[in-house]
Amino acid sequence: MGGIQARMEEALARLMPRPAIAPERLHEAMRYAALEGGKRVRPLLVFAAGELSRAPAARLEVAAAAVELIHAYSLAHDDLPCMDDDVLRRGKPTVHVEYDQATALLVGDALQSLAFQLLAEHRLADEPKTQLEMVRVLAAAAGSRGMAGGQQLDLEATGKALSLPELEFMHIHKTGALVRAAVLLGAMCGEPLAPEARAGLDRYAKCVGLAFQVVDDLLDAEASTATLGKTAGKDSKQGKPTYVSALGTERSRELAEELRGDAHAALAGFGAGGRRLGELADFIVLRKF
Ligand code: IPE
Ligand code: IPE
Ligand code: MG
Ligand code: MG
Ligand code: MG
Repeated sequence: MGGIQARMEEALARLMPRPAIAPERLHEAMRYAALEGGKRVRPLLVFAAGELSRAPAARLEVAAAAVELIHAYSLAHDDLPCMDDDVLRRGKPTVHVEYDQATALLVGDALQSLAFQLLAEHRLADEPKTQLEMVRVLAAAAGSRGMAGGQQLDLEATGKALSLPELEFMHIHKTGALVRAAVLLGAMCGEPLAPEARAGLDRYAKCVGLAFQVVDDLLDAEASTATLGKTAGKDSKQGKPTYVSALGTERSRELAEELRGDAHAALAGFGAGGRRLGELADFIVLRKF
């Protein structure tokens, strides 16, 4: 895990514009948003899924960078005063606090564009149509029927209670979609998978995608600001509907465990090839930050 995290840090630093290139302030802020800190769970999922299709690491690195740049963009925007109004992220002041709001907005815009530029510039699949499909998968995951749409639902729901199906729908979109895209893109960098394998991988991806946000909700309620590197206890203060507000911590923990079990079950057909994905399901559910 540490090896891939270090590799990603180096890759992101290399694939982003240098801070000395104009406009310097924007490039510096993009690097501030994307480098240092962060668990790099989505890149880890890209690499783990790539093991199933024997994908070359050089391709996985670029696909993982594209997903992580979308993630970093989503965080810079999520923290803005017009959204969650957060001042701390990855143990540092948020982008708009360190720079300013307009720069944080542009950082998000530019990171998103760079993600798609990377998918277009590098050879990531044997077949051009597979590579085009990768662009579509990431775009759909980031857009109005993926992460951005989930964020809209989150904003609309603030101060309200949601039914469990509504809550699940919101979480699947705001967080699950990008996690799922990470898994699918990793597999697509390698040899084509048989339809059953693809279906199993997608089931796994959906389980860990939802589990990721259930655990994020739990950690907001149960962990400290120091361990999270972001302000703890904000969801209840801001009246965000979460799994904790809907089910309480105990049942939310049970749900996360159930999803972990389902994720492992979805990997059953992969044998040793799915080991790393299994470990990541464990990490996503058992993590403390
Ligand atoms: C936080 O994501 C935001 C969510 C989508 C829940 P992470 O917990 O992956 O944040 P970093 O990248 O490790 O900082
Ligand atoms: C974030 O959800 C989902 C995103 C698309 C960024 P949260 O708002 O719960 O993420 P944190 O807790 O601020 O990291
Ligand atoms: Mg949010
Ligand atoms: Mg937030
Ligand atoms: Mg949260």
